[in-house]
Amino acid sequence: MSEEIKKMFSGISKNYDYMNNVMSLGLHHIWRKRLVKLSGAKPGDTILDTASGTGDLAIEFKKVVKDGRVLATDFCSDMLKHLPMKAIKKDVEIDAELADILDLHFENNSFDIAGISFGIRNVDDMYRGIAELARVVKPGGRLMILETGKPKGFLKKIYEYYSKNIMPKLGRMLIDEEAAYTYLPTTIEGFPYGQEFVDILLNTDRFTEVKCYPQFFGVSYIYKCTVK
Ligand SMILES: C[S@@+](CC[C@H](N)C(=O)[O-])C[C@H]1O[C@@H](n2cnc3c(N)ncnc32)[C@H](O)[C@@H]1O
Repeated sequence: MSEEIKKMFSGISKNYDYMNNVMSLGLHHIWRKRLVKLSGAKPGDTILDTASGTGDLAIEFKKVVKDGRVLATDFCSDMLKHLPMKAIKKDVEIDAELADILDLHFENNSFDIAGISFGIRNVDDMYRGIAELARVVKPGGRLMILETGKPKGFLKKIYEYYSKNIMPKLGRMLIDEEAAYTYLPTTIEGFPYGQEFVDILLNTDRFTEVKCYPQFFGVSYIYKCTVK
């Protein structure tokens, strides 16, 4: 499964940022900024961004931690290779290396904060991924997760129609990648969000506290998990 996921992201890596902007109407930038603010990151902190993709979350962290180190990791080299040029454009220095969340090659308690945006639902074994992320964060540090949810009320039907029907069509029309943008909404469909995901996180027994913050009527959620 992991190999298929890697191959799929490799295939869309060139157009990933463009499609993110189109599909979220640019809102994903606001959500990442909020995540960084909620994390309590401060100058000098050491940050691990995982499933970084093209590095947007790592860049947002770096703006705040300034001289602190931000390390961006992903298991797909084609996604990660876009980061150095983006970092130069934003005038920030970010280290990048390949790493699989399921087997992180870092010592226990290495980072003040670990982040993962729109990544955990793509990881083969979510529980192992969460355990690995918590392991490398210092006690009292934070694991910050940004992930999709589902809106309630009047937006529910519109969102379901959009993700099932419009997203695959946009994928085909704009970048000729219908399969990837048919697969991605199916991962949203089955993934826990809100209180259900908070309970899952708390049941791992890795965190003293988990808070969740719905974004844009619940289209996405930020989870702040304080590590034991
Ligand atoms: C939807 S993208 C998110 C990228 C970026 N974090 C963002 O917010 O735009 C999901 C990323 O997760 C990565 N990924 C999936 N499983 C992984 C794993 N086991 N280890 C590391 N990266 C993984 C993929 O390669 C892909 O870059």
